[in-house]
Amino acid sequence: MQAWQIHSYNGLEDLRLSNVRMPVIMQPTDVLVKVEAASVNPIDVAMTNGYGTTLLNLMRKAKNFTGGTYNELDLPLTLGRDFAGVIVSKGHDVGDRLELGEEVWGVVPMEQQGCHANYVVVNNNLVISTCSSDAVDLLQSLGADIVIDYKQDDADSKIISEGPRYDIILDCANRGPEHVRMKGYPHSTYIALNSPLLKNTDQHGLVVGMAKNVQDFLKFNIPTVENKSCVKWGFFIPSQTGINVLQKLVENKEIVPVVQQVYPFQDLPLAYEKMRQGHLRGKLVIDIR
Ligand SMILES: NC(=O)c1ccc[n+]([C@@H]2O[C@H](COP(=O)([O-])OP(=O)(O)OC[C@H]3O[C@@H](n4cnc5c(N)ncnc54)[C@H](OP(=O)(O)O)[C@@H]3O)[C@@H](O)[C@H]2O)c1
Repeated sequence: MQAWQIHSYNGLEDLRLSNVRMPVIMQPTDVLVKVEAASVNPIDVAMTNGYGTTLLNLMRKAKNFTGGTYNELDLPLTLGRDFAGVIVSKGHDVGDRLELGEEVWGVVPMEQQGCHANYVVVNNNLVISTCSSDAVDLLQSLGADIVIDYKQDDADSKIISEGPRYDIILDCANRGPEHVRMKGYPHSTYIALNSPLLKNTDQHGLVVGMAKNVQDFLKFNIPTVENKSCVKWGFFIPSQTGINVLQKLVENKEIVPVVQQVYPFQDLPLAYEKMRQGHLRGKLVIDIR
């Protein structure tokens, strides 16, 4: 096939139409797309001058290190990030979500070979979610691809079989990295929304607590032969950029906020009590008008 490639970061002078090997499906959730149209973005021109190379090379290495099988060499590099085309081949875990011949459009991650070419391989990621039986319909309506009732006896085997390897496990239920490793859920990155940071300083004081935080962080992030996954702690930080991104996602209906109940201001303690009881299915909102 043909692809427009650069062989060094010397700007547009080096952009050449080259005969290259067809990209191949490496992950079970990959699809091979015959590209029919692709757009040109400012970032393509910037990347001909090496824009982002330091971090992108690190990401290529990290992807290989954590079980990815993408080429970690950057050059020669095909640019092009967004495309429209037709699926011509798919990995065995894509199933019937996407059919051969189906028209698709998408975006290629910056650390991968781009789409200014006849063919491109992209990943068709799935969102697999766990919840209690009564929340299954809600999660399906919110767009989860697969929903697993975590209270069923076969939940663990389903979680393992549905995810040949999870890119990310986002733990919103305070289970902890030990739990996930003990269960043997195959994954690259585990993100906990409940970090031990504040608990450690509350329990051990500021100095010993902070040392314990470093120890906890290293304990799960030094790779071993059996375990190369990493653990990240997610924190709530007010950020204008983050809020702008979320607003766009909500406007595009990619995130759907769910409100379970609205309480008048004077009934705020009732909302606290409801939160204390747990098993919530949406946000509790206080109307302060
Ligand atoms: N780091 C931060 O900045 C940050 C910010 C916000 C929230 N958080 C933390 O993130 C977590 C989630 O927040 P939230 O507001 O969504 O809490 P929440 O309203 O308490 O929701 C957690 C839900 O998880 C369900 N659950 C329990 N075990 C589960 C499992 N194994 N699989 C799937 N669902 C399970 C519970 O329902 P059932 O028990 O009925 O199944 C509950 O409704 C909380 O622990 C919170 O403290 C952290």
